[in-house]
Formats: sequence, C-alpha cells, structure tokens
Amino acid sequence: MTESNLAVEKKKLRGRMLHQRDALTPAEIQRKSLRVVGNVLTLPEFQTAKIVACYVNKGSEVETKPIIRNVLTSSKKVLVPTVTGERDLVFSELRSLEELVPGTFGILEPQPDLTRPRSLETVDLAFIPGIVWDSQGYRVGWGKGYFDAVLERLPSWATSIGLTYDQQVVERVPREEFDLPVDLIVTETRVIRL
Ligand SMILES: Nc1ncnc2c1ncn2[C@@H]1O[C@H](COP(=O)(O)OP(=O)(O)OP(=O)(O)O)[C@@H](O)[C@H]1O
Ligand SMILES: [Mg+2]
Repeated sequence: MTESNLAVEKKKLRGRMLHQRDALTPAEIQRKSLRVVGNVLTLPEFQTAKIVACYVNKGSEVETKPIIRNVLTSSKKVLVPTVTGERDLVFSELRSLEELVPGTFGILEPQPDLTRPRSLETVDLAFIPGIVWDSQGYRVGWGKGYFDAVLERLPSWATSIGLTYDQQVVERVPREEFDLPVDLIVTETRVIRL
C-alpha cells in the first residue's frame, strides 16, 4: 500500500522541524524549557489538577522533569508512560524520579517492578509531546500514533497541554482523520488556548 499524501507531507515536515529543534544547544533547551515550565505553573488547570499525566522528555524535547519534580513535591500525583505495544502506552504512578530507567526507544520509564498502572480516566491534565504544532492545536509527533491514542482515551473533562518551543509552531500541520488537537499549547513566550 502506498502512503497517503498527508502521511508523506507529515514525514517531510517532521524531518525538517526535528532538524531545526535538534540544532538547539543543551543550554538553550534548558533555558527555554524552564520558561515553558514557568508558564505551565501559572495555569489554573495545572494548579487545580490532582492527577497529572506527563511524558518524560528525550533528546531536544521540552524538558518535563521540572514539572514532574514540582508535582512530586505537591499533593498532586503524577503518571508517566511505559511503551507496552504498538500505539499502546500504560500510565503508571511515579513516586520518585529515581524509579525511572531507560526503556523502549531509550526513553526513561518506571522500573518494571515499580509500575503502578492507573487508568487515563483518572487524569485531570495530560502533557503531550510533539515535533511540530499549529495554532489550532494539531500536532505531528514521532509518527507512531502513540499520543493520538492517548488523546483519544483521555476523558472529556481532562485538559491536554502541548509543550513546545515557539520555533516549532507553524501555521498548519497536515491532519489525518485520527489526529486530535490539544486544548492548550504552552511555549516559552505564550499560552495558546484553543
Ligand atoms: N486512532 C487510531 N487508530 C488507528 N490508527 C491510528 C490511530 N491514530 C494513529 N494511527 C496510526 O498511527 C500512525 C502514525 O500517525 P501519525 O503520523 O499521526 O503519528 P504522530 O501523531 O506523528 O505520532 P505520535 O502520536 O506517536 O507522536 C498512522 O499510520 C496511523 O495509521
Ligand atoms: Mg498524529
């Protein structure tokens, strides 16, 4: 079967924008990420959330460890994902960053004997990674559909928040029928409410 035009367009955009993101230095990633996190901490949705699902960053992604650390030292709970199959992530309650070890794709995941699986139904707020975003909240990720499945399973009352740098936001990304937008995008300079 040949790939759809949209899938090809996504692949090109993903490659170009990943290259641009990977050009950030570790110091720039850290500085920009702290500004993104600073904006997250001001959000009422974050302040009132009780259970937060959060990806663990890899490579040039926005660093989420400061968010996870913040949640761990509060009365909120944090769930992080483990890859369990094709387009399948299981979210597990994390009690300490020290419980994380490299897993599938080299991403930090809870040590297998320390997983505490929780349903996404329990989540008030979920942070979503991406490589390219548009101002309507649509995203292009790694191209495996993992977070499309998360957005599909999130309860309607939960808030989904995309974390990214300004430079990764474009006018419009290609959309396929299974792509779902997030509720908010937070960058180092702004909060985009959809
Ligand atoms: N709800 C779904 N049901 C069936 N297949 C899906 C669904 N969502 C995505 N897919 C499949 O996943 C593949 C990748 O989708 P897409 O290119 O949108 O990934 P992505 O959003 O960039 O990746 P990710 O979510 O992993 O960051 C597509 O080939 C698509 O067929
Ligand atoms: Mg998608």
